[in-house]
Amino acid sequence: MSANISIDYITHTFKGQSSPTLKDIELQITPGEKIALIGRSGCGKSTLLHMLAGLLMPSEGCVRIHGHQVSKPSAKWNMMFQKPSLYPWMNVRQNAELGLVFAGQRDNTKIDRLLDLVGLADKADTSVQSLSGGQQQRVALARSLATSPEVLLLDEPFSALDAFTRASLQDEVADIASREDLTMVIVTHDIDEAVAMADRVLIMSANPGRIVGEMTVGLPYPRNRAAHEFSLQREALMNQFESLVGDETDEASQEPEQDPAPSAQKAA
Ligand SMILES: Nc1ncnc2c1ncn2[C@@H]1O[C@H](COP(=O)(O)OP(=O)(O)OP(=O)(O)O)[C@@H](O)[C@H]1O
Ligand SMILES: [Mg+2]
Repeated sequence: MSANISIDYITHTFKGQSSPTLKDIELQITPGEKIALIGRSGCGKSTLLHMLAGLLMPSEGCVRIHGHQVSKPSAKWNMMFQKPSLYPWMNVRQNAELGLVFAGQRDNTKIDRLLDLVGLADKADTSVQSLSGGQQQRVALARSLATSPEVLLLDEPFSALDAFTRASLQDEVADIASREDLTMVIVTHDIDEAVAMADRVLIMSANPGRIVGEMTVGLPYPRNRAAHEFSLQREALMNQFESLVGDETDEASQEPEQDPAPSAQKAA
């Protein structure tokens, strides 16, 4: 069963900071919708995603899933990170079933089905250390899906992968989200990824982080990146992004240059 998500006027100021990181974020996500959140580095995308996951409480406003305020993490709203964070001493199956084991609900049939779904049926007994980065992310995906979440939250989950693996995982995850009836929110820097995976793309500004624009991607799945319509949507999103937040600089590139090391200063 998929979930509707309501973000009710979230404003967030981190402790010790004078200005808010997020400001007046108001958003409705319908059950089964696939949302991509794009914005410059440091604009607050992960902060907002952590709030959806119940990992961080906003200073003002709240997140509701099925009308209930999210106040803690739950297996029903699962988060997948950039790094798969697997246990290296466990095999594929043991890593994939971890959430179920913690919940006291070990279910071999379910894990078999999920490993099949993510294309790892023949690797169940393999050590995760011998897997490629893409395969490791597939294990993390199977683990996220094992507890039957209603919401799948993804924070740049494919950014460390090569372009081909990334594209096939984007298609697979969008397909799995449709088949498993999940509501999905993916944070990404990648315009192509947003167009490939999302029904609706939200554009976030920085300082403070606000949702300043959105675009509906009305293309059927799986999306054909070579199609003219795909290029048109990509260009439209790029233009909208540039016109809304194009003059912002990534926080990472704003950082002052490091002072020379003290020893180097002494040597000078
Ligand atoms: N725990 C924290 N305490 C103080 N400030 C924080 C904390 N976590 C994040 N921030 C600040 O909040 C802002 C938004 O951070 P966030 O990680 O949400 O950005 P982001 O959009 O996900 O960036 P990126 O694309 O680089 O991952 C940044 O200025 C960051 O330094
Ligand atoms: Mg982030």
